[in-house]
Amino acid sequence: TQSSLPFMPTSAMEEQTIRSNFIRDEDERPKVAHDVFCDDIPIISLEGLDDEDGGAKREAICKSIVEACQEWGLFQVVDHGIDAQLISDMFRLCKDFFNLSPEEKYKFYMSAGKKGGFQISSHLQGQLVQDWREFFIYFSYPTENRDYTRWPEKPEGWISVVEEYSKKAMELACKLLGVLSEAMGVEREALTKACVNMDQKVLINCYPKCPQPDLTLGLRPHTDPGTITLLSQDQVGGLQATRDGETWITVKPIPNAFVVNLGDHGMFMSNGRFKNALHQAVVNSETSRMSIATFQNPAQDAIVYPLAVREGEKPMLDAPITFAEMYKRKMARDTEIQKFEKTAN
Ligand code: SIN
Ligand code: FE2
Repeated sequence: TQSSLPFMPTSAMEEQTIRSNFIRDEDERPKVAHDVFCDDIPIISLEGLDDEDGGAKREAICKSIVEACQEWGLFQVVDHGIDAQLISDMFRLCKDFFNLSPEEKYKFYMSAGKKGGFQISSHLQGQLVQDWREFFIYFSYPTENRDYTRWPEKPEGWISVVEEYSKKAMELACKLLGVLSEAMGVEREALTKACVNMDQKVLINCYPKCPQPDLTLGLRPHTDPGTITLLSQDQVGGLQATRDGETWITVKPIPNAFVVNLGDHGMFMSNGRFKNALHQAVVNSETSRMSIATFQNPAQDAIVYPLAVREGEKPMLDAPITFAEMYKRKMARDTEIQKFEKTAN
């Protein structure tokens, strides 16, 4: 029965107030609304990125990407070559999934050790205040990680769309990593190779409309642990970024664009030259919102150590560590790392 299921935000959209476990301390509450957009985040057209032989266009695009990664660790790309129809199919099917009954969604509940599935609130464990969010996560690469028992047969046609979307996102991510590798003075494949057997997960976030959006967050501030993330969002707005850890700005949704952000691994490999973007998501009382984040991560045993250290710099890590170890340390001291980033930049 429904009462034996855990609380789901989608079931509480018609309530007047939110439960206390979603209410954040005053200093953590949203400071900027979901629809007050800011134009500061670079928007980069990738048209011409594939031109070879030092084409002037490619050079200009690479320069914009590198600057954005140095300043923000986050930017938007348009003219990226991923079909608009594929993106809209992906959104339509994901929306159908979240509209299924709680019982149906709960069949895919992701308990410990399960390769993907449905979850409520936050993927970060052990935190008291919950996020106003439901999500579904697929393990897509390496392909042997695909556990099709975790891929719902409903809505129909989902599997082939997700497979195609994953593949296209992986190609785009590798292209962008090529740009960053070259900017560090190493071969174009260096970052991709450093990931050993690139891992990809597709995270579909659903933020139900919320009766008291000023008191809660859809997703708490965090940096992504991996190398590079491609995020596709609907036109509602809610993703927020910050350069200084205090001033939040809402990223303006652009149809069919991807928001690209670097994670901790990308930051470490560049020895801090490229930022790992701190971001969060806010919710609103009028409409639900969806976003799809595609994470490209190194293999668990891939070695994390700067690929290039510039003159006068020290390596950010004392010694090479595995990605698994990097992640473990992050989980243990996430807040400290973020504070450190803030003061270091
Ligand atoms: C995320 O960081 O995974 C999602 C952010 C968003 O929903 O915009
Ligand atoms: Fe994220």
